[in-house]
Amino acid sequence: MDRTDPRPRAEHRARRNRDADWNAWPVVDYLAENYRRLHPCDVGVIHHHSAVYRSYAPAALDRTLELGAGPNLYPLMLAGAASRRVDALEPSAANVRYLRHQLVHGADDSWQPFYALCRSLDPALPESCADALSRVRVVPGTADDLTPGRYDLASMNFVAESVTEDFDEFTALCAAFVRSVRPGGRLLASFMEQMPSYRIGTGPVWPACPVDEATLRGVFALRTTGLRIVRLAKDRTLPEYGDTGVLLLTAERPEGPAGE
Ligand SMILES: C[S@@+](CC[C@H](N)C(=O)[O-])C[C@H]1O[C@@H](n2cnc3c(N)ncnc32)[C@H](O)[C@@H]1O
Repeated sequence: MDRTDPRPRAEHRARRNRDADWNAWPVVDYLAENYRRLHPCDVGVIHHHSAVYRSYAPAALDRTLELGAGPNLYPLMLAGAASRRVDALEPSAANVRYLRHQLVHGADDSWQPFYALCRSLDPALPESCADALSRVRVVPGTADDLTPGRYDLASMNFVAESVTEDFDEFTALCAAFVRSVRPGGRLLASFMEQMPSYRIGTGPVWPACPVDEATLRGVFALRTTGLRIVRLAKDRTLPEYGDTGVLLLTAERPEGPAGE
């Protein structure tokens, strides 16, 4: 222990996932900061993920997962041609409410440029955003509720590194993500690079675990095959979250036992 450190000991304790009130996730401020317009980093994520979904014939995937969907609709749109059913797993009551409202009453107009980009990259997507999103079911729950092997493909965007300060918990969440797909199933993820715990608007501090490419390789190389990681430059049109960019990952769950 550093005895010269003036901070009280309690401040050193890593905040775990259960220490944050996810039901109080600030949907309106989060959307305003990140998704009310198409930012360069969204364009990068959409190009990356679209190439993966495009590699499947329409409706080739029986069931896919969006883990920690939050109020972000574009990962759900991207799955709308290849996947026959998308489970949007999300623990926060506020996010579940937002997602259900979007699915029942139609997506906010601000999502249209996102859908236009998704469809321009994947012409197999239906003409209307509502049709693409009709494959989505909102499932309240956390990564702990995942059934191993259930999905053909799992996607996770800005979740494992953005929901805990505890590295072991980050690793466990990534391992559950890997196990959620059947052997041979596909994994698709994005991570904020080197992001410390963060605020949305003027709200509370949310727990995060700074990760870089080496961290991701350390966690995923043992559990997957075909691991590929690419980096997007820091997006300076977003609020200052303290990150250094975005890391995009694709991999497969090995055909044998894995993900432990
Ligand atoms: C930074 S947000 C990312 C939301 C969304 N995926 C996106 O792309 O913007 C983190 C999300 O993870 C969810 N979350 C928190 N703890 C979780 C857990 N244990 N399992 C799954 N999701 C969790 C939060 O409710 C929140 O929606």
